[in-house]
Amino acid sequence: MEIITDYLVIGSGIAGLSFALQAARTGTVAVVTKKEKAEGSTNYAQGGIASVFDQEDSFDLHINDTLKSGDGLCHEDIVRLVVEEGPERIEELIAMGVCFSHQEKDGEALDLGREGGHSKRRIVHTKDLTGREVERILLDRAEEDKNIRIYENHMAIDLITKSKLIRRGIIATETSETCWGAYVLDVEQGDIITFLSKVTVLSSGGAGKVYLYTSNPDIATGDGVAIGYRAGAKVANMEFVQFHPTCLYHPLAKSFLISEAVRGEGGVLLDKKGNRFMEKYHPLKDLAFRDIVARSIDMELKKSGDECVYLDISHKDSGFITDRFPHIHETCLKFQVDITKEPIPVVPAAHYMCGGLLTDETGKTNLRNLYAIGEVACTGLHGANRLASNSLLEALVFARRAALKSAAEMEDKKNEPFPKAPQWDPGSATDSEEMVVVSHNWDEIRSFMWNYVGIVRTNKRLARAKTRVENIQSEIKEYYWDFLVTQDLLELRNIALVAELIISCASLRKESRGLNFNLDYPSQDNVHWLQDTVLWI
Ligand code: SIN
Repeated sequence: MEIITDYLVIGSGIAGLSFALQAARTGTVAVVTKKEKAEGSTNYAQGGIASVFDQEDSFDLHINDTLKSGDGLCHEDIVRLVVEEGPERIEELIAMGVCFSHQEKDGEALDLGREGGHSKRRIVHTKDLTGREVERILLDRAEEDKNIRIYENHMAIDLITKSKLIRRGIIATETSETCWGAYVLDVEQGDIITFLSKVTVLSSGGAGKVYLYTSNPDIATGDGVAIGYRAGAKVANMEFVQFHPTCLYHPLAKSFLISEAVRGEGGVLLDKKGNRFMEKYHPLKDLAFRDIVARSIDMELKKSGDECVYLDISHKDSGFITDRFPHIHETCLKFQVDITKEPIPVVPAAHYMCGGLLTDETGKTNLRNLYAIGEVACTGLHGANRLASNSLLEALVFARRAALKSAAEMEDKKNEPFPKAPQWDPGSATDSEEMVVVSHNWDEIRSFMWNYVGIVRTNKRLARAKTRVENIQSEIKEYYWDFLVTQDLLELRNIALVAELIISCASLRKESRGLNFNLDYPSQDNVHWLQDTVLWI
C-alpha cells in the first residue's frame, strides 16, 4: 500500500502536532504515531514551559540561566531566539484554548513556577499536568483539521532516501541526499505501508527506555534518532543524557516523576536520617542545576548504601500541596505515600536526551526534505545540560520555524515528481518463534546502560558497554533479516543503535562537562572539548 502526502510527521507530541497544525495551512499532513495519539512524553510533562512573563524577569536572565546550565556548549544564537520567541508561542497556545494556572490574588496573571537553575519564577504551568493539558488542546485542534490525518498504532521503520533508491537502481543520478518519506509498519495489521512525502518531520521524542530506570513512557525508544542516523543524518551530543533527580522509589511505581517544581515550591532533599545534604554540593542547594543534584544523590547513595533519598514538602500547608500538585499527591497516595504528611522516597532516573539529530535554526537536518523537532533534535539550545522546562518551549519554537521554512519551500516541491519507491520487500523472512531473543537483548541493553553508562562513567565501564552493544547489534542484524518485522524488534533495533551512539559520544569526550561525568577525566577541558560531539555514517 502507498500513501502520498505533502507532509509526513512521525510522532504526535507537542512538536509534531504543533508542526502539523501549521503545515496543514499549506498542504496535506499525515501524522504517524506508534501507540495511541496522546501516549507521548508530552503527556507526562509535569513541570511546564519556561518563558519570560514576570516584570522582574528579562530575556537576558533566561538566556543567562540557560547558558550556565548548558555548561559551555549551548549555541548562544539559538538560545536567544528560543527565549525571545517563547512568550508569543505561549500566547498562541492560550488563544487555542490551553488553560494555564493563574495567580490566586490576580486572576489575570499567569502563576509562574520555579525550578532548578532558574534565577526567577518563569515556569508557565497547568498545576502539575501541563503536558496533558497542552496535548489535549493540540489533539482536539488537529482532529478538527481536514488536512490532517492521524495514523495510530503505526511505527516508522526507515526513511526512504535517494541513496536507497539509487542502490536499488530506481534513481540513476546522485545529487544531494534527499528524504522522500518512510516505510511504516501498521502494528495491528502487520502490513508495511510506503508513505511518500515532500517533507518528512521526525518528532518522535526521546530515548529514556535505553536505560533500566526512566521517567519516560514505554514508547521512548529513540526511534527518530535511530531512523535519521541510519539514513545519513548527523547526530550530536548523545553523551548528554539527563537524569531527573527525583522519581518515586517504589517497586510498582515505574519511576513516576516527582516534578522539580516540588523543590521550586520549598521541597528539600533529605538522607535516610533526615539530614539535608545539598548544601555540601552547591550554593543553590536543592535548586542547583539538574546534573549536579542527580550526581549528588548518586554520591550520597553510593556512600551510605541506602536505596533512596527523600524529598520532603510536608512542612508546607496541605491545602497548597494538594492544589498545586494534585497529580503527584494522588499518585503517591496510591503507593501509600501521603506527601502532605511524610517525605517521598526518591531516586534519579533517565529523563531527557539533550543530544539528537543535528539541525539548523529552522529544524532542518543535513538531509534534504528532512526536519527534526522536539527531543529528537539537537538544536544547540541545551548544550551539556538542559535547563528545566526549556524543552516544551524548544518544541513550540522549532515546530513553528520548521513549518514556516518547509511551507516556503513547498511551492517548488509541489512540482517535483515523487520517485517510484518500491514496496517493502520481506524477502524470505518468516514469523519468529524466538521472541525471547528480543526480550533478553532488550533487558541486557537497559541494564548495562544503567550500570556502565549512567550518571557516573569510567573508561573501563564504557569499554565494557561497547563490547556488549556490538555483540547485540550483530545478533539483531541476523535476526532482523530472517524474521518479519514487529514493533518489538524495531524498538530493540532502535534502542541498540541509540545505546551505541551514547557510548560512542561518551567515549570520544575526554572530559567531564554537564551531564557527562567520567571519573578518568574529572575536569573540564575547554581547550579541546568546547565543541559538540558529532557522528554520522
Ligand atoms: C519536572 O517537572 O521536573 C520536569 C520538567 C522538565 O523536565 O523540564
